[in-house]
Amino acid sequence: MKTFEIVVKTLFGLEEVLIAELKALGITEVEKLSRAVRFVGTQELLYKCNLHLRTALKVLKPIASFIANNENVLYKEVQKINWSDYFSFKQTFAIEATTKGEIFTHSKYVALKTKDAIADQFRAQKGIRPSVDTENPDLCIDVFINRNECIISLNSSGVHLGKRGYRATQILAPMSENLAAGLVLLSKWDTQSDFYDPLCGSGTIAIEAALIAKNMAPGINRTFNFEKWVDFDKVTWNNIKKQAVENQRKFEHTIYCHDIDANAVEISEKNAVLAQTDDIMDIEKQDFFDSQLQLSNATIIMNPPYGERLNKEEDMVALYKKIGDKLKQSFNNNNAWILSGNMEAIKFVGLKPSQKINLFNGPIECKYHKFELYKGKKN
Ligand SMILES: C[S@@+](CC[C@H](N)C(=O)[O-])C[C@H]1O[C@@H](n2cnc3c(N)ncnc32)[C@H](O)[C@@H]1O
Repeated sequence: MKTFEIVVKTLFGLEEVLIAELKALGITEVEKLSRAVRFVGTQELLYKCNLHLRTALKVLKPIASFIANNENVLYKEVQKINWSDYFSFKQTFAIEATTKGEIFTHSKYVALKTKDAIADQFRAQKGIRPSVDTENPDLCIDVFINRNECIISLNSSGVHLGKRGYRATQILAPMSENLAAGLVLLSKWDTQSDFYDPLCGSGTIAIEAALIAKNMAPGINRTFNFEKWVDFDKVTWNNIKKQAVENQRKFEHTIYCHDIDANAVEISEKNAVLAQTDDIMDIEKQDFFDSQLQLSNATIIMNPPYGERLNKEEDMVALYKKIGDKLKQSFNNNNAWILSGNMEAIKFVGLKPSQKINLFNGPIECKYHKFELYKGKKN
């Protein structure tokens, strides 16, 4: 079977988790990059990556790489690619460009130059040019420039992989699905015990935990850009999806998804129904500090408010102190993880973290701390 290079993009700090996910798909030789990984694979593997990887943002198939020190060279190099091999003038396309370094400083301009090079090639060859469609293109083209090193790839995912299709309503800044899945995978929760997010917001962390618990492929309810490629192999794709559905499993425990805010609880419920995970979830309006939940050997993950919008540092310190006290009083014999972008407040949890991981929640730098709440020997 034909092999080619595949690059998978992820979030800062999740590269190792992504490598572990790839291992589970049978890929052992992976090169770790910054916010990405690279390996060699087949078309079948490219499809599987899109369907199964929880921490991936997009799966790219590089088709050209070159050095460009200005936009004219970029234009000429892009024109060297025979674009009719990848799509027809009757189809639409879109360019997403990312630039680093001081040579190309405007990613939008790079995208425009690349678009012109492609459209001009079609016009010269066929007398007509394909249209750009940024909403629902037939071909998604990715341009990555680091200083003068340019990589042109086909983006096989299309809309980024965090969009699983289960968000009923957008609330203010929910966590990305990729990060939420990353938090659960970093916790090494083995799905053989209960899971609890006491400050669930729109339920993202708990829903991702539920998808993992049921071994549901995160992409099972969405489409991908490779389905529009000229070489799309429908039979292979249908087999991969069929296999994924057959591999779903029963979960014998409970995923508790609680929040003090009735609106957040309502959104979590709707999202869980869309994600088809509501059957294993307990979604309730509950103040964490009044929680009577009795858990043992469970994994608790929470993402408390950071207080970044209003300057209420004292309130934040008090909140984190209270969270630490509640964990100590009521949740002995469990592991708790806290993700916070409030570097000061997290110190006031008052428990010694056994692990500290640096992550980003969107643009906000965060700490992800593990607290082992075991008295005496852990069983
Ligand atoms: C940063 S948000 C969580 C966002 C969530 N991870 C998501 O993806 O949507 C923090 C949440 O903590 C909740 N919260 C604050 N104090 C609480 C308390 N005492 N008990 C339960 N939930 C609380 C808020 O209502 C809010 O939804």
